[in-house]
Amino acid sequence: MDTPVFDFARSYADSGTVRFHMPGHKGRGPMGWESLDLTEIHGADSLYEADGIIARSEENAAALFGAGRTFYSAGGSSQCLKAMLALIRRPKGRTTILAARNAHKAFLQGAGLLDLDVRWLWPEGDYQLLRCPVSPEGLEKALRTMDPLPAAVFLTSPDYLGHLQPVGGLAAVCRAYGVPLLVDNAHGAYLHFLEEPMHPMDLGADLCCDSGHKTLPVLTGGACLHLSQTAAERYAPYAREAMGLFGSTSPSYLILESLDRCNAFLAGKGPEKLQRAAARTAETKARLRRLGWRVPEGEPLKIVVEAAEGLPGTALADLLRKAGIECEYADADYLVLMTGPGNTEADFARLEAAFLPCPGPAAPGPLTLTPPKQVLSIREALLSPWEAVPLERALGRICAVPAVSCPPAVAAVVCGERIAEDALAVLERCGVSEIPVVLE
Ligand SMILES: Cc1ncc(COP(=O)(O)O)c(C=O)c1O
Repeated sequence: MDTPVFDFARSYADSGTVRFHMPGHKGRGPMGWESLDLTEIHGADSLYEADGIIARSEENAAALFGAGRTFYSAGGSSQCLKAMLALIRRPKGRTTILAARNAHKAFLQGAGLLDLDVRWLWPEGDYQLLRCPVSPEGLEKALRTMDPLPAAVFLTSPDYLGHLQPVGGLAAVCRAYGVPLLVDNAHGAYLHFLEEPMHPMDLGADLCCDSGHKTLPVLTGGACLHLSQTAAERYAPYAREAMGLFGSTSPSYLILESLDRCNAFLAGKGPEKLQRAAARTAETKARLRRLGWRVPEGEPLKIVVEAAEGLPGTALADLLRKAGIECEYADADYLVLMTGPGNTEADFARLEAAFLPCPGPAAPGPLTLTPPKQVLSIREALLSPWEAVPLERALGRICAVPAVSCPPAVAAVVCGERIAEDALAVLERCGVSEIPVVLE
């Protein structure tokens, strides 16, 4: 597979051409990569009007991922998510989207900027902040009660804890109702390249975003918006403009080059390496389980360890840090480790050696959250003047900006909702001490 963007940058860097153009470093500097950092010079194409090397590279990506069309983002899935929302927004009247509650903050920002209304799908079973299981039956029931139907259904799969939604079954329900299915697949770019592909594009999603940078050898910020064949017919003509609404007009060429190089990886040894990493990760999960740790099933390149008696996820993370290992995320209840083909056998061995037998499972108190009352639209709340107040003064106030740490950037109370007693308890458990509320 050719790598036209990377090859162009490499040959320009090697050509010794004198740069009287941006960026200001002129291809020279202390970091070592300046010569590959370009702008939209002659021959370099332009992301939001691509018809040259970037367009060719995106075609390569679409073929690799089995998508109808693929568009690159140098602004992560955050940019792609917002573009998906812009694409499904109805031209007249208000637009409602039916979304699983564990949506990332970028989704809320997009809904606010585009003035969308969200009807939430709450987790089936106990309330959990990061996980929102939705079954095809549950989705069907929700759609049946909606008149008019939502402009789209939005799901996060995999979520921050590696849980995969039954995208195939959910896509079938969406198809039956003629409603497009949008999937935030930020954590699952690699899923197409497993022995049994389980990428949302394989399972019938209409639009989805992949943060290549989270699980593939791509620089931070590199992501893709994929459209299925049918979605491409409807949305492709507008997709670049939609992406451009939320990104800089000077996207990083270093990021675009790394997306381009990743195509060669995926067309070559990449799938084999990803599958090997998934198998090795499964071995580590099994070892940890033998030591008594609770490690739920889920996404193949994530190890989620549940906290133990007297050992919250954050304390586990500190222990790992002392052993020279940094995790992806930790909170009171979980430790999350992300693996990949870049991890060596020595990395896995070191991780396994750092775990002592589990002192006993923790018994976290169940979270409860009655769906808060939406009193302002997401847009009104997000763009209102606000003040940050400590949790003890937040009861009854209206959430302006979601109070979340990033990661995982999933909010218990979202813009425009009135903060109730049980929400305060959830926020406290999430380590939130202050929340931005609308000035009234
Ligand atoms: C579930 C989820 N969606 C979207 C995003 C945003 O992705 P990006 O960082 O590529 O902008 C993240 C980031 O962590 C995420 O966890």
